[in-house]
Amino acid sequence: MGAAVVDLRAEHRTDALGIDERAPRLSWRLEGCAPGVEQRSYEVSVDRDAQDPSTVRAASADVSLVPWPGVPLEPRERASVRVRATLSDDSTTAWSEPLTVEVGLGAEDWLEDFVSPSLTAAASGPRPGWLLRATFSVPASAVRVRAYVTAHGVYDLEVNGTAASDAVLAPGWSSYGHRLRYQTLDLGPATTPGENVLGIWLADGWYRGRIGFNGGLWDVYGTDVAALVQVEARHADGTVERLPLRWRTAPAPITASGLYEGETHDARLEQPGWSRPGFDDALWERPAVLPRRSFLHALEASPGPAVRVVETLAPVSVEHRPGGRVRLDLGQNVSGTIRFTASAPAGHVLRLHHAEVLEDGELSVRPLRSATSVDEYVFAGDGPETWTPRFTLHGFRYVELEGWPAGEDLGTVEALVVHSAMRRTGWFGSSHDLLDRFHENVVWSMRDNFVDLPTDCPQRDERLGWTGDIQVFAPAASFLHDSTGVLLSWLRDVKAEQRDQGTMRNFHPWLECGFPAEPAAAWGDAAVVVPWTLYERTGDVQVLRDHVESMAAWVDQVERATGGTGLWDTGFQLGDWLDPAAPPDNPGESRTDPHLVATAYHARSSALLARTWDVLGDARRAQAATAVAARARRAFRDTFVSPAGRVVSDTVTALSVAICFDLLDDEAQVRVAGERLVELVRESDHLISTGFVGTPLVCDALTRVGAADTAYHLLLQTRCPSWLYPVTMGATTVWERWDSMLPDGSVNPGEMTSFNHYALGAVVDFMHRVVAGIAPAAPGYREIDVAPRPGGGLTHASASHLSPQGLIRVEWRRDGDRFDLEVEVPPGARATVHLPDGSAPVEVGPGTTHHACRWRGASDDPPLPRRWNIHDPQDRALMEAGAA
Ligand code: BGC
Repeated sequence: MGAAVVDLRAEHRTDALGIDERAPRLSWRLEGCAPGVEQRSYEVSVDRDAQDPSTVRAASADVSLVPWPGVPLEPRERASVRVRATLSDDSTTAWSEPLTVEVGLGAEDWLEDFVSPSLTAAASGPRPGWLLRATFSVPASAVRVRAYVTAHGVYDLEVNGTAASDAVLAPGWSSYGHRLRYQTLDLGPATTPGENVLGIWLADGWYRGRIGFNGGLWDVYGTDVAALVQVEARHADGTVERLPLRWRTAPAPITASGLYEGETHDARLEQPGWSRPGFDDALWERPAVLPRRSFLHALEASPGPAVRVVETLAPVSVEHRPGGRVRLDLGQNVSGTIRFTASAPAGHVLRLHHAEVLEDGELSVRPLRSATSVDEYVFAGDGPETWTPRFTLHGFRYVELEGWPAGEDLGTVEALVVHSAMRRTGWFGSSHDLLDRFHENVVWSMRDNFVDLPTDCPQRDERLGWTGDIQVFAPAASFLHDSTGVLLSWLRDVKAEQRDQGTMRNFHPWLECGFPAEPAAAWGDAAVVVPWTLYERTGDVQVLRDHVESMAAWVDQVERATGGTGLWDTGFQLGDWLDPAAPPDNPGESRTDPHLVATAYHARSSALLARTWDVLGDARRAQAATAVAARARRAFRDTFVSPAGRVVSDTVTALSVAICFDLLDDEAQVRVAGERLVELVRESDHLISTGFVGTPLVCDALTRVGAADTAYHLLLQTRCPSWLYPVTMGATTVWERWDSMLPDGSVNPGEMTSFNHYALGAVVDFMHRVVAGIAPAAPGYREIDVAPRPGGGLTHASASHLSPQGLIRVEWRRDGDRFDLEVEVPPGARATVHLPDGSAPVEVGPGTTHHACRWRGASDDPPLPRRWNIHDPQDRALMEAGAA
């Protein structure tokens, strides 16, 4: 196979129908290049609506985010883009598959108003859904028909009886007052000249339904539900005609729907053919009209992928329970819904109860708190009926069917896995089965929590964009999936609300549901760390340009809180949240001084801000941020570090932070801190003693001080608390607490206990960078550090990453003291390979290379014997069983 240009993208989207960028940057990958062969130049051919086809050539090796060739596109304009590359061996690839790029509407192009079937709703309780029906006439001369659509609430759109999009829960959740995203839908294939019909299903969703904890809030963004739809036909001569819509509305067969509560659908109320021509809507009402003007400023296209049904899962086991319920185990904790097909008499009710885990043989629904997660279907009685709820989502592994009408036949029941449709870009494998399953669990927790924005959990009455969670997880996220679009969308909310409210909140979109509105370290630092991580992993400088003021505003705010001293020792803090030593009902009560954490983060974020200003070429502001960072470092050392290098608090988190954030004076201090860190980790029997802040850092800190063996002991520990303990308990996702399920199988009594939080899975970034050995050495992986650290008795490990340059792959094997390494570098990138024997690093270019050395590490030794603790129930059980 010859070399080929593949995977053409516009901005960070593979599907570019309806984008805001009028001069979208283009990216592609080169595949099948002979070793050492690279791109020397490229040509972009653009066939656009308003102009003759053109081809632009650039003498450049760039394949990522190259500038749009030629003049920007107009709103609504479409272009078909292809790329071919000329390589360093003088060959030229074939033209790539075309990518269609189409710009959406400009703000002034919106001429329709919102139509609303319901301007207010009952004070509380999940509300019913609505149908909106519009007839419109398509002229015979139309060559293109588009619908530009958004809603207050969540919608599904049908045209002439068929779904017009596979998006779920559109338009998704954003800080609607600032950003309301619209979708561009191609109605062409489903319409014919003459009369056509649009049908909209509409429900409360995030806009008006209950969201948030402490009982939650209703009507957060407005009291109405409404849809904004503009349908346009384009004629061959390029003129565009807006097609008038005649709207009617009626109640939907959805009698109640809530994201937390679940959905009830009474199929007896369905009106067959309602979204097709010829249906008699004489009894339907006219919807109210809301002037569009007040929302125009907020309309934008989404920078990321839609939420979709990404996969279906069949149950792995079925159990008929006493009392008649049927319990299905999907074998995987997911975010999604159940779909079934069954027949039953009219009025028969089937209820679906969801839960993540079982406790005492029953569904454990306590962790859901007030998110009851029960769906209900009332049969119409007219033959096989297929149903899945439209406007709700559950986090679950188990479902119980109450009233299942089809006896033993459960073949039609399946789970729909629903999340942002991101492409997988990162993989890891090793000789350690539990470690591999842990990695898989992290991938699932990421998938289940990237539902339009990065959330904490998919099941209970939160599902919020907690900043601290994604702050620690962003490096892992950007390795595992192409999550840039989702994160960029969320960062726009962060920026808008931060500006509006004068501060970062601890989650965005922000809700006033009783959580302190004051900012906290490690959470608010997401404003800095997430854009920086995206830049580091994708090489997209524009992310920094777009967010640098938000980054700077956070650093300024903290600097003010320190009173210019650099020491952040006032106000609300979450600290090393979920330290395993904290009591179940007070997860913030960690062993590490929260002000130490706060000051350390201030030093780190201001240092990252300084680097950002450097990248953007603003030396003056870079210098100012460097001075802030220096002050915070000094304050940290003066307050928390002894001259010899001991740190107060004397905890694993404190030492890890000091080492990883480069807060110590010199190597002598690092050595003392490192020795103490190793001592503390050993003293805790290689059990985890860190929370949100220390956990992502401790393995890196240990490796940095030459104790990779200790890092491996910690990483491979299986007793509670440890990363692998949940795996031994059958977990299929990462838990919120180290002991969300206790060793005796009971669920942690804390009222905040989820089985699907990605934050503590952030350590997979260490597995990718250090265990397998792929780390970015320059933005976007144009330079790669390949420095695997074998250990822990692993006989092989591998990782691969579909980087902006192409696939990077590292694979090592050990046989006795022989260490073999295979490295694949994509065209346009370089790698520096460091072998574990400490020999001089080797530079390698594109292609696959093999490396070998003799190596035997201390980490092959078994962990130092641990001490038994009579107060530890696991230890006690083992002692009683005579194991000690
Ligand atoms: C969330 C966390 C979050 C924390 C901070 C929790 O309820 O689930 O992941 O970061 O609150 O207070």
